[in-house]
Amino acid sequence: MKPIILVGFMGSGKSTIAKELARIYSWPLIEMDAAIEDNMKMSISDIFSEYGEDYFRELETALLQESVNRKAVIATGGGILSKKVNQEILKKQPLVFYLEGSFETLNRNIKQDKVNKRPLAKGNNDVQLKKLLNSRLSTYEDIASYIIPIDNQSVTDIVLKIQQVIKEMV
Ligand code: S3P
Repeated sequence: MKPIILVGFMGSGKSTIAKELARIYSWPLIEMDAAIEDNMKMSISDIFSEYGEDYFRELETALLQESVNRKAVIATGGGILSKKVNQEILKKQPLVFYLEGSFETLNRNIKQDKVNKRPLAKGNNDVQLKKLLNSRLSTYEDIASYIIPIDNQSVTDIVLKIQQVIKEMV
């Protein structure tokens, strides 16, 4: 069985949904941002400010390359597709779920986070954030094996939908 991989913009619930799927299937969870923070013993914000975004993206690629060989549930970071090499890696995977939400839903979720750990959301106003989302939309759609709408859906609804797809596949 191949890994279950979640992609989508910041605030789409990748971490929450991945955690739930990992629990249900009793598979290891790879939360990429958290794993990078653990490995580096630094927060994502500090990695961005001390080493720059490009360095963070290199760490992401290395971890992705390693993670896709594992039977695990993988929550990627929202910018994982900004590198072509990551797109190529993910295109070969059969279980890439894109959690697709409107800007309103995503922005609400981002703003609801008590601690804003996201350097790209912190410095960006709504117009810039929407622009970033729009610049990524077609790549998410292109790379995804399945598109899962999240607007007005509960975590349970979304998890059930993903489970249904997996059940039909195997
Ligand atoms: C990023 C999203 C974040 C994190 C980093 C960069 C992005 O992950 O990887 O702050 O470029 O969209 P989440 O989508 O889990 O917030």
